[in-house]
Amino acid sequence: MNSPLRKIIFPAAGMGTRFLPATKATPKEMLTIVDKPLIQYGVEEALDAGMDEIVIVTGRGKRAIEDHFDISSELEANLHAAGKDALYQTVSRVARMADVAYIRQKQPLGLGHAVLCAAPWVGDACFGVSLADELILSEGKSAMQQLCEVHEQTGASVIGLAHVPDNEVSRYGIVDAQDENGLLRLHGMIEKPAINQAPSNLAMIGRYIFTPRLFALLKETKPGTGNEIQLTDAMRQLASEEPVYGVVIEGQRFDAGNPCGFLLANVILGLQHPQHGETLRAALTEMKLIPPVR
Ligand code: G1P
Repeated sequence: MNSPLRKIIFPAAGMGTRFLPATKATPKEMLTIVDKPLIQYGVEEALDAGMDEIVIVTGRGKRAIEDHFDISSELEANLHAAGKDALYQTVSRVARMADVAYIRQKQPLGLGHAVLCAAPWVGDACFGVSLADELILSEGKSAMQQLCEVHEQTGASVIGLAHVPDNEVSRYGIVDAQDENGLLRLHGMIEKPAINQAPSNLAMIGRYIFTPRLFALLKETKPGTGNEIQLTDAMRQLASEEPVYGVVIEGQRFDAGNPCGFLLANVILGLQHPQHGETLRAALTEMKLIPPVR
């Protein structure tokens, strides 16, 4: 039995160029899907999997993330005094859901470098990494829980995967996977390959569990695709030294890191929203954008 995973890193230092001008003064991670910022969905998913020691790697212009998970005494007092109990509960729950630590990545040197910035905080333990702009909703076990199960079984690094169509392969880290006694063993991975160089259509979708060996490898990783220190490059080395497994995640996934996926997540979650769903559906039906429910 492996010791339970408690630590998780949220890299959140990226510049959000795909969402400019929205992300000029607002962190990408704070863009909302309906009424909740992306990073909160990620933190809730981590907590649900028992990962309650959270570090967010931030950079310049990311203060709003810290404020979001902080106690806002004035706001809470105002909501309480105004008798807005439901809103008060919502706001105070966010501030108390987790003790979040923050580490600053001083230069945007890539995802691998952002993860490496959290190495002293993690120490010599297995840890999770979650990219908040990949929103994954599951009716049963959460995406992180699905990874945790394979990690508990193997003690190894485990990566969340999804099948993507040919025209999307060049947007992701793509893995070379083979079945091994019912588990998916990863023999390699390439960051954003052209379709004719991709070993498969299985993409890494921003959920990872790593053994601490990854940090030593990240330290030696040279800049790769986009002249950035790529997590994928260190992972390829890790997979050549020790077993790394993949899990095709069950759940509804939105790549909210690109504008189209982000808009789709807002529409779908908007339609499912207990308070606003019905009104949104009626409006879209009236505009003949969706058929009436029979
Ligand atoms: C990052 C990773 C990539 C992964 C993707 C998932 O890319 O580098 O391997 O497939 O997230 O969304 P980014 O979207 O930051 O360019």
